[in-house]
Amino acid sequence: MSGPPHHREQSHLPDRRTLLSTALGAAALGSGTGRAAALAPGAGHDGTRDRGNPFNLGIASGDPSPDGFVLWTRLAHEPLAEDGRGGMPDRVIDVDWQIAEDEGFRRVVRSGTEQALPARAHSVHVEPTGLKPDREYYYRFRVGRHTTRTGRTRTAPAPGAPSSSLTVCTASCAAWEHGFFTAYRRIAEEEPDLVLHLGDYIYELGHLQYPVPSGIARDVAGSEARTLADYRRRYAQYRTDPDLQLAHAVAPWVVVWDDHELDNNWAGQHPELPQLGFDERRAASFRAYYENMPLRSAAKPQGTDMRLYRRIEWGGLANFHVLDTRQYRDDQACGGLVGPCGAESAPERSITGDRQENWLLDGLRRSGARWDLLAQQVMFARNDTLDGPLTSTSMDTWDGYTASRGRITRGWIEAGVRNPVVLTGDIHEHYAADLRTDYTDPASEVVGSELVTTSVTSGGDAEEDEFTGDPDNPHIRFHSGMRGYLRTRITPEQLRADFRVLPYVSRAGAPVDTKASFVVADGVPGLQHGTG
Ligand SMILES: [Fe+2]
Repeated sequence: MSGPPHHREQSHLPDRRTLLSTALGAAALGSGTGRAAALAPGAGHDGTRDRGNPFNLGIASGDPSPDGFVLWTRLAHEPLAEDGRGGMPDRVIDVDWQIAEDEGFRRVVRSGTEQALPARAHSVHVEPTGLKPDREYYYRFRVGRHTTRTGRTRTAPAPGAPSSSLTVCTASCAAWEHGFFTAYRRIAEEEPDLVLHLGDYIYELGHLQYPVPSGIARDVAGSEARTLADYRRRYAQYRTDPDLQLAHAVAPWVVVWDDHELDNNWAGQHPELPQLGFDERRAASFRAYYENMPLRSAAKPQGTDMRLYRRIEWGGLANFHVLDTRQYRDDQACGGLVGPCGAESAPERSITGDRQENWLLDGLRRSGARWDLLAQQVMFARNDTLDGPLTSTSMDTWDGYTASRGRITRGWIEAGVRNPVVLTGDIHEHYAADLRTDYTDPASEVVGSELVTTSVTSGGDAEEDEFTGDPDNPHIRFHSGMRGYLRTRITPEQLRADFRVLPYVSRAGAPVDTKASFVVADGVPGLQHGTG
C-alpha cells in the first residue's frame, strides 16, 4: 500500500480540487513573476500599451487522440464589442502555451508560441502530437504578463488498448436567456474524461426572441445573429460564463453543432424561412464556430463547407462516431415540422448525405471497439407525440428520414456491431429508448439503445415530473422534461447512464440529482433499469 501508485493517488486528488476551486475569474498561475515573466513575449513589444488581461473567454481542449488533442483560447479585451472583434487591436498577437504532466508545471513536456490572427478573431488552436496515451495533461496560455488558468485535459488510450472505464458527460442546448449554466458547473464537478456537446451551444436568436414561461434570466447581447460579427460576439458572450469556462477547463470536449449555431431547423441548403444571403450566413456561422471551438484544423471551414463528422477512438473500449445531421440533409418533409404524410419515408431521402452514411457504415464494419456510440443531434427512435391511435412525428428528427434510419440500423446489425448506442440532444428533454427494427411492432427485435440528453437551460425551469410509461411509444423507457445533462460510465462490462436533473435554472447554484439510471450490459441490446 505504499510506493508510486499510492503517492500518485494522493497528489492527484488535491490537484483536481485546486482546479475546481480556482474556478472563478482570474486564476492566473505564475503570472508576472520570475521565469514566467521571462518567458512572456510581452504586450507592448511593438510599443502599444497593455490593454489588460485578454483572456476573458477561457480556455478549452478537445478531440483527444492517443498522442494529443487540440488546445484552444481566444483573446478578447471587450467580449461584447459589437463588431465581434472583442476589443482587440488589428494586429497579430503572439500567444505562448505550455503543456505539463503536473498542475504545477514542474514537468513541462511541450511549449510553443502561436499567432492569434485578427482574421481568426484572435483565436488560437494548438495541436500537439507525440504525447503519451491514456494520461492527463495540464496546459495554460500566456500573453505578456497575463496567464490563463490551468486547464486539465487528457489523451485517449492507445489503439485497441484495454481501458477499465471512461466517464462521459453529454450536454446540449444552452439558451443564454433561459437560465444559468449550472449544469456545466455540475458537469465540471463530475470530473469526466470527456464532455460531448451535441449542439445548440449558442442560440442565434436575439434578445427576447425566444420567450419561456420562467422568464428571461439574463440578457443576450444583440438581435438575431446573421453576420460574422454577430456570431463572433454571441460566442464571446457565452464564453464569458464562469460555469461554461470551468467545464471547458476540466476536460476535453468533443463538439458538434445542431441547428441554432446557424438558424433554427436549417436543413442542408435550406434555411428555416426563405432569406437572402443564406450561403453567406452559413459561411459566417461556420467560420465563427471553428474560431470558437476546440476543433482540429481538419475541421477548418472552406466557405459553406465544414467537415465536422469524425471519429474519436477510445482504445478498445469505445468509438464515438460523431455525426453532422444538419449540413447534408434533405429538407424537412411534409411541408415542415410535423408528419407523417408519407413523403418522410421516401427511400432516397437522407439525413446524413451519402458520403457521411458510407463513412459511418464503413466505420461500423471496421470497428473493433466494445462500444460504438453514435454521437448526433436529433432523436433516432420513433417518437409519436400524439396520444391515441393517430400519429404525429417530428419531421426534423430521424422520423422525417425513415429510410436513413433503416439503412443505418441494418448497417450496424449486418456489421455485427457488438454494442450500438445512440447519443442525442436537441429536444430539451431526457429520453431513454430501446432501438428496434420496427417501431410499430413491439415484438420486433431490440437492436440498440438511445440516450437523449435534455437541455442545459433551453426551456427554462421545469416542474418535477414522473414517467409512468408511454403507450404510444412502448420502446421509450424513460422521459423527463427537466433541465440537466447525461452522465455515462462505460466499462468493458456495461454502460451505465445516469439522467442528471436540476430543479431550476432561472437562478444560479441549483443542486443536481439523478432522476433515473439505466444499464446496457455488454452483448445485450436494450436498456435495463439501473439501481442506486
Ligand atoms: Fe435546442
